[in-house]
Amino acid sequence: TRTIDLAVIAGDGIGQEVVAEGLKVLDAALTDVTVRTTPYDLGAARWHRTGETLTDEDLAAIRQHDAILLGAVGDPGVPSGVLERGLLLRLRFELDHYVNLRPSKLFPGVSTPLAEPGEIDFVVVREGTEGPYVGNGGAIRVGTPHEVANEVSVNTAFGVERVVRDAFARAAARPRKKLTLVHKHNVLVHAGHLWRRTVERVNAEFPDVTVDYLHVDAAMIFLVTNPARFDVIVTDNLFGDIVTDLAAAVTGGIGLAASGNVNPDGTAPSMFEPVHGSAPDIAGQGKADPTATVLSVALLLEHLGLGDAAARVERAVAADIAARGTTPRTTSEVGDALAAAVAEAQPVS
Ligand code: NAD
Ligand code: IPM
Ligand code: MN
Repeated sequence: TRTIDLAVIAGDGIGQEVVAEGLKVLDAALTDVTVRTTPYDLGAARWHRTGETLTDEDLAAIRQHDAILLGAVGDPGVPSGVLERGLLLRLRFELDHYVNLRPSKLFPGVSTPLAEPGEIDFVVVREGTEGPYVGNGGAIRVGTPHEVANEVSVNTAFGVERVVRDAFARAAARPRKKLTLVHKHNVLVHAGHLWRRTVERVNAEFPDVTVDYLHVDAAMIFLVTNPARFDVIVTDNLFGDIVTDLAAAVTGGIGLAASGNVNPDGTAPSMFEPVHGSAPDIAGQGKADPTATVLSVALLLEHLGLGDAAARVERAVAADIAARGTTPRTTSEVGDALAAAVAEAQPVS
């Protein structure tokens, strides 16, 4: 039987709680596949103990796995940015996760703040290795009235083209075949025009994909007034971060939003994680919704070619969401219910 070698980075805050549930569901979803999980002690606790975020040895070990499941990173007791940059972004950059895949789907029965949501089913292809995230910047005269702080957005022809091509391929494989570039080329003229030209050029390789462009501010209007217009959105690292939290909010909340940090070339393991963070405001209370992590497990299964198992997980989530009442459930109650539903959906052998 096939064995999947999974690196598990539960991380901080609710990361620990939601990953435990994700692993329960993963176990329940697999019949003739074995999962071997290796936990990695990374995050705030490790940093407090050793001062380390992610060592070269950690990285080399993580590279050997088939995939990575991550919970969340970040803690109020650690200076902001230390873990986010030193751990999470370092993983995305070093493992070349240039496609940050963030699907948004409004499941039937989910409560949304939108009065007339329509059918929401789109996917954001967020660039994952460039933009203002690269750390190309600096500050002088820090703390003085004359402080200057720069964060340069780095956009390379190579980096933009590979993510745009991936987004086109995804659009071409979907029924509506529509790609929306979200940027701000009326102001960010250097990066914006590189993105625009790249989309125009790559469109020639995918002639049946319809291309659309929106400035990011206007895109926020349509995400609220007419989210059904979106099919595939391609955008840069920072815009994609912001767009996907709003996308989560309109499709039932951040507790449902899943993501994959994908290395489409297979040169390193891809990493799956909920869109949300470590939620210090509810950590340790059993209040976190593990569904986003469970749906990230479905993305992981799909990525590893286990589409049937992924579909069973998605169906179990859809059924669970549709049946949700107003009585709050604990993190593990939701996880147990989802694991049981997935196990029940097994083909009888
Ligand atoms: P957050 O996503 O952690 O929390 C925002 C709000 O959403 C909070 O009110 C929280 O309680 C709620 N929430 C989040 N996940 C939930 C869930 N599963 N169920 C129910 N409610 C949920 O964002 P934040 O507060 O801006 O950041 C907190 C920390 O997490 C920071 O250190 C930040 O850097 C980090 N962060 C990490 C990641 C990641 O690891 N990928 C993502 C975002 C933020
Ligand atoms: C996310 C998070 C991260 C990001 C942070 C914690 C680095 O907000 O995964 O959406 O901005 O990508
Ligand atoms: Mn984010």
